[in-house]
Amino acid sequence: MDSIIVRGGHRLSGTVATSGSKNAALPILFASLLADGEHRFDNVPYLRDIDSTQQLLASLGAESRREGDTLVVNTRAPGAHVADYETVRKMRASILCLGPLLARYGEARVSLPGGCAIGSRPIDLHIETMRRLGAEITSDGGYVTARAQRLHGANILFEKVTVGGTENALMAASLAHGTTVIENAAKEPEVVDLARYLQAMGAKISGAGTSVITIEGVDSLQPASHRVVPDRIEAGTLLLAGAITGGQVTVENCIPVHLQAMIDKMRDAGFRIDTGETSITVQGNDGWKAVDIATAPYPGFPTDLQAQFMALMTQAKGTAVVTEHIFENRFMHVQELVRLGADITPMTQVAVVRGKRGKLDGAPVMATDLRASACLVLAGLVADGETHISRIYHLDRGYEHLERKLAGLGADIERAH
Ligand code: EPZ
Repeated sequence: MDSIIVRGGHRLSGTVATSGSKNAALPILFASLLADGEHRFDNVPYLRDIDSTQQLLASLGAESRREGDTLVVNTRAPGAHVADYETVRKMRASILCLGPLLARYGEARVSLPGGCAIGSRPIDLHIETMRRLGAEITSDGGYVTARAQRLHGANILFEKVTVGGTENALMAASLAHGTTVIENAAKEPEVVDLARYLQAMGAKISGAGTSVITIEGVDSLQPASHRVVPDRIEAGTLLLAGAITGGQVTVENCIPVHLQAMIDKMRDAGFRIDTGETSITVQGNDGWKAVDIATAPYPGFPTDLQAQFMALMTQAKGTAVVTEHIFENRFMHVQELVRLGADITPMTQVAVVRGKRGKLDGAPVMATDLRASACLVLAGLVADGETHISRIYHLDRGYEHLERKLAGLGADIERAH
């Protein structure tokens, strides 16, 4: 089982490029189930979650292969419409095949995901959406089965903002008979990117990126090509790696406005941040202030950058209050940071981080989920001595060769097999 070894104390400097967005690529790949034929995707990152998605797609009739930088998916009617437990257990995003399978083939059988490190992650809002669109839902043996002759348009009001729920609704409603209006929709850039790809396939969607999205269902969709939007969470992670080491780092191939909430907080902390059309630069800083953050749906502070920003706050002057509003258990990284010497008091939705410059000591720590592992890498960059991070497969789910990108900026970091 791979691990990463980081030796702290090096200021990072230089330029690094962001890869394509995992959280845009996953729903987009599942959306290819909506139309038979050859779909072509550019800027799809090389990640474990992409591999898992390609395996699931293959079991659903959509074979895929890389042609240079392009991922080609050939979709045809599958023999089965099942996302099994083994696949869903590895990757919760497998639930995103529900909407496409139901809309295209009238049937989908998806394993209930079970729990995960950051929270219960239920799928009740996904199920309710399919029911509103006319599906008959049954459950047995840990699986949910949805059936419908043909879905019909509906008014869907999400009681809480759900990225995946909005994406499943978009995909299912694209082939429903009639008009669907989604209210309290997620506004994440990944939702907008999915909508763009669905529109390229012939879907009639308006309002993506706002909280009200209208979909005029069509009878069929066509395969299309699409370039996946840059990964704003990777870009934010790389920016924070530069910041926490007091270095000067430019992150390229990104969309600054997608990180506005975090950029504002870094400026409040005293960092100089310059933005270009597709780049963000953080300037070296010998000391920064603690600032409070509270995660929220886009355009608020991203929950997927909460752990990484907390690492930055362990080195700040003062005390930062970190509030996690999206997931009920997304402080698994706190105890690992404390092992490195950080002074953090976790409560239910709040963690109080008392910053103290340069007082992290390298130690063996364990990754618990994708973004917590990135947080531990960032802490290792500033810890005295060696930090040994185990269970790094979590990191590989969502970051394309992160250790290589950081080494390219001057970090003393390596992967141990
Ligand atoms: C997406 O997860 C992302 N994953 C997550 O990124 C991200 O943290 C999350 O959105 C929030 O931004 C992908 O896009 C593949 P939600 P998703 O539905 O869609 C509750 C990462 O690190 N909820 O917006 O699963 C849920 O429990 C991952 O890349 C229900 O109660 O998140 C949570 O509290 C982690 N019932 C809140 O809504 C439901 O049916 C928001 O979840 C669905 C969700």
